[in-house]
This record gives sequence, C-alpha cells and structure tokens, in this order.
Amino acid sequence: MTAKERFYVTTPIYYPSDNLHIGHAYTTTVADSLARWHRFAGREVYFVTGSDEHGQKIQRAAEAKGITPKEYVDVIVASFKHLWEKLNIRYDDFVRTTDERHHKAVQAVFQKIYDKGDIYKSAYEGWYCTPCETFWLENRLVEGKCPDCNRPVEWVKEESYFFRLSKYADRLLQYINEHPEFIQPETRRNEMVNFIKSGLEDLCVSRTTFDWGIPVPVDEGHVVYVWFDALTNYLTALGYPEPNELLEKWWPADLHLVGKEIMRFHTIVWPIMLMALDLPLPKTVFGHGWLLFDSEKMSKSKGNVVDPLVLIDEFGVDPIRYFLMREISFGQDGNFSRRALIERTNADLANDLGNLLNRTLSMLNRYYDGRVPEPTAAPTPVDQDLIAYASGLGQKVDALVQELKINEALASIWRLVGKANKYVDERAPWNLAKLESKDELGTVMYNLLETLRIVGLLVKSFIPETGAKIWAQLGLEDLDQKTLADTAWGLLKPGTQTRKGDPIFPRIEVEKEEAQPVQQEQPKGEQPKAEQPQAGSPEGVLISIDDFMKCELVVAEVLEAAPIKGADHLLKLQVDVGDEKRQIVAGIALHYKPEELVGKRIIVVKNLKPAKLRGEVSQGMLLAASTPDGRLELVSVSAAIPPGARVK
Ligand code: MSP
Repeated sequence: MTAKERFYVTTPIYYPSDNLHIGHAYTTTVADSLARWHRFAGREVYFVTGSDEHGQKIQRAAEAKGITPKEYVDVIVASFKHLWEKLNIRYDDFVRTTDERHHKAVQAVFQKIYDKGDIYKSAYEGWYCTPCETFWLENRLVEGKCPDCNRPVEWVKEESYFFRLSKYADRLLQYINEHPEFIQPETRRNEMVNFIKSGLEDLCVSRTTFDWGIPVPVDEGHVVYVWFDALTNYLTALGYPEPNELLEKWWPADLHLVGKEIMRFHTIVWPIMLMALDLPLPKTVFGHGWLLFDSEKMSKSKGNVVDPLVLIDEFGVDPIRYFLMREISFGQDGNFSRRALIERTNADLANDLGNLLNRTLSMLNRYYDGRVPEPTAAPTPVDQDLIAYASGLGQKVDALVQELKINEALASIWRLVGKANKYVDERAPWNLAKLESKDELGTVMYNLLETLRIVGLLVKSFIPETGAKIWAQLGLEDLDQKTLADTAWGLLKPGTQTRKGDPIFPRIEVEKEEAQPVQQEQPKGEQPKAEQPQAGSPEGVLISIDDFMKCELVVAEVLEAAPIKGADHLLKLQVDVGDEKRQIVAGIALHYKPEELVGKRIIVVKNLKPAKLRGEVSQGMLLAASTPDGRLELVSVSAAIPPGARVK
C-alpha cells in the first residue's frame, strides 16, 4: 500500500424531517471508523455526509408547524451536527442540499443531461410515496401500499420531466457484470440485477405540485425531484461542476455506504446519471442491513426508535460505537436491545479489555513502580504465540476493513485481548515475582504492555476515546501521529513511566428490573458473550486462607449519603477508606435514611471491580446482614477503629 492511496467515503444525506435515531447513527459510525482507519493506514481520506432538505415531506412538516421549510430544517440540521459531534464523527464536508453550491451543481447536472437529450418532457400519472419520496408502478405496490415502508401512497398526476433510465439498462447490466466489486454484498447485487432485468421505466425527475426544491433550469415552474437533487451531493462536495482539484483528486468515490432500502437509487439511478454525464461510476456501493427493534425496522413512523443521545449520556460514546460495529454482521440485519448493549459492554469492554489494562498496570505498579521493564528472558512458546498473533494483527485488520468486514475486524482484535488475558493466567506474574531472577517477570510484563499498546492503536479508529485512554495510561504520546506501521511488535520503550488511572469501563450493573427477559431476540450470527452469573460460593465448600485474603475488607467512614433519583432502593454514599474517598452505591434505601448513615464506620470490600448502577459508579461494596423479617443491618465497628483498617 503506498501512502498516496485514496479513499473517498460517503454516507447517505439524511432527511431533516425528524431527529436522527440509532439506525442513522449506525451508517455514520461505520463510515467514520472506516475513514479513521484508512487515515491510520496511511491513505488520504475524504469523508462526506450531509442533509437532504428538499421535497414534499419536508414542506408538509414545516407547514404543519407554521414555519418556513428553511426555518424547519435549520433547527434539525443543527441537531444532526450536534449528534455527530457527540458520536465523535469527524467528517471533512457536510453538504446541505440548501447550500448555494449544491443548487449550482444540481442545475448543471440537470442541464447537461437535458442538453444531451436524456431528459424529456411528458406527463406523469401514477403512485407516489411521500415519506420515501418515491414513484411506484402499480404492480410493485404491496396491498396497495409502498413496498418499502408499507405506508399509503398518493395518486399523482402532473406534467413532468423524465430521465431516460431505460436507454442505459443494458450498459448498466454489463458494467455490473464486469465489476463485481461495484454492488456489495452479493445478495444485493443479485436483487439489483433482477430489478434491472425486470425492465426499467424512465424516471420522473421534476415536480410541480409544491415548490420546496431546486428549480429545473429549463423550466422554472418545476422543481427537481428530490432524489435526483440528493444524489448529486456526492459531486457537490467536490466543487462540481467547476473543473477543480477536488474533483480531479477524489472522483470516482471509493465507497457509498447506504442502507439496503436505498440501493436502487444508488446502484441504478445514480450510475445512470453519471453515465449520462460521462463521469466514471463509484467503485463500490455497499448496502448494509437494518437495525431492528422487535425484529422490525426501527423507524419513527413505527414509534420504535432509540435516541442515540440518550444512550451516549447513559453509557458513554464508545460502548455505543463498539456495539453497533461488533454486534451486527456488516451487511445483515441485526437487533438492537438495551440488554444486548449492556452485555456486550460488560463482556468485551469492561471484563476483557478494561480489566486487562487495569490488572496489567496494577502488577506493573507493584513490581516495577509503574515503569516498563526490559524484556530480557528468551521467549517461551507461550510468549511466542502471543507475539506472533499481535505482530500480524495490524495487517490482518487492514485486510478485513478493506473487505468491509467490520465486525470481523473487531473480533480479531478482541481475540488478541482474550489471548493476553489467558497469557496472564498462564504465565502468572505473581509467581514469577517470587523467583530470584526477575528476567521472566520483566519479559511477561513487557509482553502484556506491548500487547496493550498495539490494542490501543488498533481500536482507536473504532472507539477513539478508548484508544486515547489506553495510550494515556500507558504513558505514551502523539497517538494522532501513529500509523499502521507502529503496530509492529517491540516498539514500546523500556523505561516508559505508565500512569494507571481509573478503570476505563466500569461494569454496568444490570438491575433486577432491567434484567427481565427482553422481547428482542438476539441477532443472527455470533451470539453476544453473556456474563456467567457470579454464583455465590456454595455452602460447605471450603476456601483457603489465601482465597479469603484476596478479599480486601476495610473499615470505611460514611462521609455523605444521598438518594438516587428514580431508584427507590439505592443510596449513594461517599466514604473514606483510609487512603482515598470512594463512592459506593448500595441497595439500602429502604432500611436506612441518608442522615442515619453519616459518621458510621462500616465494612467495605475495597478491591471489588467498579460497577455502574443507574449511571452512578460504585467503587466497592458494603457488608450487611438481614434480620429474620428481612430488615437489613450494616456491619459496623466503633469509632475506635480508624478508616482504612483491614478487617481480617
Ligand atoms: N435522504 C435519503 C438519502 C439520500 S442519499 C443521496 C434518505 N434519508 S433517511 O434519512 O431516510 O436515511 C436513510 C439512511 O439511514 C439509510 O439508508 C440508512 O443508511 C440509515 N438508516 C435509517 N434507518 C435505519 C435502520 N433502522 N437501520 C440501519 N440504517 C438505517 O433515505
């Protein structure tokens, strides 16, 4: 791969008829991750998104609110940009179809095709689906409704301009045959080929019954059909129609990423527009699947949408980004559920990745004061296995990303995380620390830290905040300047001072009411890795003193206590555990008033993995016992025992 390779990626431009939901966020998150990855892999990238602001649907929505269409879309487009910022989407251009530059581009496209004789005037009479802004032939309707969204269609009769799609059908079929990479995945290619073979009708490309659109250049009484207008955005972003460097450099686009329901526009109408303009066709149009809720497409009209902003506020941005790309097999439909999101986050992010970082840096603090040691021992076969997998992983992920196998790319990174966790157990640094020679301990710690450095680099395109957190805790710098070449093994410098911080993903506690079986079925393909329930130690099973000593029980003084809004049984405590202040969330609200607790000296488990309950981090657990009638009493000691005293 040369550094000069280029990647121009686009998302659909979304309708600002309403706020975006997690389904829209899905496409854009994938596009952003691809853009970030290709940059990281040394390619030049151009990433464009935008808003599709014209058409009857928007005009009607604005009328219903008693404001102008422009006033209406301005507010919603601002909310799009806000969402992209929250999701850490870094686009290079945002095309609004109300931009002046876009008007020029659309009028130029229309004029050129008209001058060529491929647009002609006639009369349209037929069905129209306004929510989809799509014309339908009678025989394509399903029970008289739109076959895409199942909503009622309207009979439209007006004088219109038509685009000669039929003229180009054979040429398009030939192109698709000769370029198997053009329409992906293959199932969609077959659908499109069948659609074309069943006969293409010329497309109506102007409307007269409303005026919220770009005027047809040859006939001002008409506005350009909204899809003809919208598809042109991919050229607007390159300064079309003026011959210029952007157009030279970036056209044809490498990838139009779209949902499967708008493949027809992108693989039939758009390529034919480009053929009529004598421009090359995009290299790939990929039609991904839908995010389903209750096995139905998530959509505003069905009232089953999930607001990404609410999820981001509750869980943070990276769990959402990770879930979307890891859980859904790219190209297929997949279910969204809160339960699956929590399980995926706990299993992959908190337990596997977060815990690996945390335990490695804890051991490094204990054995080497947080400083990266020199790997002086000769590698054992177990070491070699880890090193071999980590060394080849950058190239492997790159290949998977280029094949658009996003979920597989993430799975291959998590295989390394899994291997590293297993490596800790197998190499047991706590035993090596007892040996006189510290060579092996140093090598094992180095290998773990180097693995984490590589993982940080590999994940940063998909979950940027996490990459940055790993990097910071490893005490490394200049993450933005790092490239795929930096994933080579052995670049971590011995002597680096790490900076262990808080766990990067506190476990999200699934409270009883949330843990009820949810109606969503699991997506097809790989099942999310469910956490094994933490069974209590069965009675009668004896544990060793070492087992008991693993549990760090200390005295803590309650400094503050407060209720948690919306969680009747929980209290949030601030406690002094001797060397620091901690927050503990406990299910004791039905047994204690907050003011009764302040000043109490209680016993807490200090080394419990942090968890999140109702959005609040809990860094420990307190001990309590119940009376026979179910009243809870906290285990406490007198004021003679200071906070931090070990209970043993
Ligand atoms: N404005 C047109 C696109 C014009 S592109 C030249 C449009 N807009 S839309 O607002 O309806 O967004 C459609 C896109 O949003 C889909 O193609 C898909 O990328 C995404 N999704 C909308 N709902 C979705 C799901 N439930 N699941 C996955 N993606 C979904 O169509």
